[in-house]
Amino acid sequence: MFTNDCLNVNEKGHLTIGGCDTLELAKEYGTPLYVLDENVIRQTCRSYVSSFKKFYNGNGMPLYASKALSCKELCRIAKEEGLGLDVVSGGEIYTAVQAGFPMEKVHFHGNNKTADELRFAIESGVGKFVVDNLHELELLNTIAGEMSKKVNISFRIKPGVDAHTHNFIRTGQIDSKFGFALETGEAFNAVKETVSLENVVLTELHCHIGSQIFDIEPFVTAAEIMMDFISEIKQKLGVEIKELNLGGGFGIMYTEKDEPVPYEKYMEKVSVAVKAKAAEHGLEIPYIFIEPGRSIVGEAGITLYTVGGKKNIPNIRTYVSIDGGMTDNVRYALYQSDYKVVNASKAGEEPNEAVTVAGKCCESGDLIQENAMVAEVEVGDTLAVLSTGAYNYSMASNYNRIPRPAMVMVNNGVSRVIIKRESYEDIVKNDI
Ligand code: LLP
Repeated sequence: MFTNDCLNVNEKGHLTIGGCDTLELAKEYGTPLYVLDENVIRQTCRSYVSSFKKFYNGNGMPLYASKALSCKELCRIAKEEGLGLDVVSGGEIYTAVQAGFPMEKVHFHGNNKTADELRFAIESGVGKFVVDNLHELELLNTIAGEMSKKVNISFRIKPGVDAHTHNFIRTGQIDSKFGFALETGEAFNAVKETVSLENVVLTELHCHIGSQIFDIEPFVTAAEIMMDFISEIKQKLGVEIKELNLGGGFGIMYTEKDEPVPYEKYMEKVSVAVKAKAAEHGLEIPYIFIEPGRSIVGEAGITLYTVGGKKNIPNIRTYVSIDGGMTDNVRYALYQSDYKVVNASKAGEEPNEAVTVAGKCCESGDLIQENAMVAEVEVGDTLAVLSTGAYNYSMASNYNRIPRPAMVMVNNGVSRVIIKRESYEDIVKNDI
């Protein structure tokens, strides 16, 4: 009935997730409520790990891109499943440290890492610094020197690959704020400059072509371009880079229109291309990192809301107002993202009513979805928005001083809070 594996309908006609009745969850924990299914997350982690074993001799590691959902429990799960971590800020580093994550398995990204963040990352034992620009390279070298440390670095390269995805989440092309361009020689010059620096060691090259990508071809092309670049560096500078980080971006199912490929297909195809390039150029087969974020948590999550109002505007549309909105899910307002909405109170019934799901913020654009087909909605019903595990909580805000919702993890019929609901006290705690 549902494409997301963890969802079902029980004998009461209620939507269930991970064996838990969503209406019971709403009653116990309140709404809005983020709910995540632990099995889906762990299974996805395992399929990435096993794809390396199956197709690449285990010569690599997936890093969980924690920007998709950074919290201590996700760091613990990533650790238990043998993944590393991709972090992009001091806050994400702090979260990992607090969760007891092995920091040598952490890659630090970002196009403007501050001096304080770099110091904190070095102190915390972050394993790899993915350098975005020359200023950062010099700053990192200086700070590492001051701290009498030598750090391993990678360079973020723009491979010039155009992935077919939303403009805001596309990053591999030359006009991007991230990384060094290959075509202009910028990337090569950065590598050259590094050779003379004392406190940084270049061990890896990185690229990330975008997010929510279904086509494997652009990933393969990017991997080939990166291997060519490793070869060029070896020929011209006599240095062989032995680690390749190919980023994240694997697409998930938001609605039936999306057709994600099984995640292990990625390594199946990319490993062939990388090995062929290694043979062609006489290079060692590199250790590979990938950085999935959305695909690890996205489909595992749903958000539950309570309907507080319904407004029919004849011949125009029917608004259904929920007790959350752009503060817990800004993705429709920002990217017009498609979501499947289910009336969790009547999940077994035919979705025969077209509604616009509106949030409670003072903002006309605060919509979660337009023209969503749901079973007839009444005030008091519980609505579920599917595939909200990634980039929802992590992009949440306190606009209109609305507290962020709680997050609950479910596992085979048992639920537990992993992030507490914010209180009004939390809202004013930094006000003087
Ligand atoms: N690695 C790097 C360097 C990245 O920039 C990203 C995502 C990832 C890995 C993880 O990509 P994923 O596997 O999650 O697609 N807020 C947007 C998505 C922004 C993605 C930013 N970078 C959204 O809600 O769709």
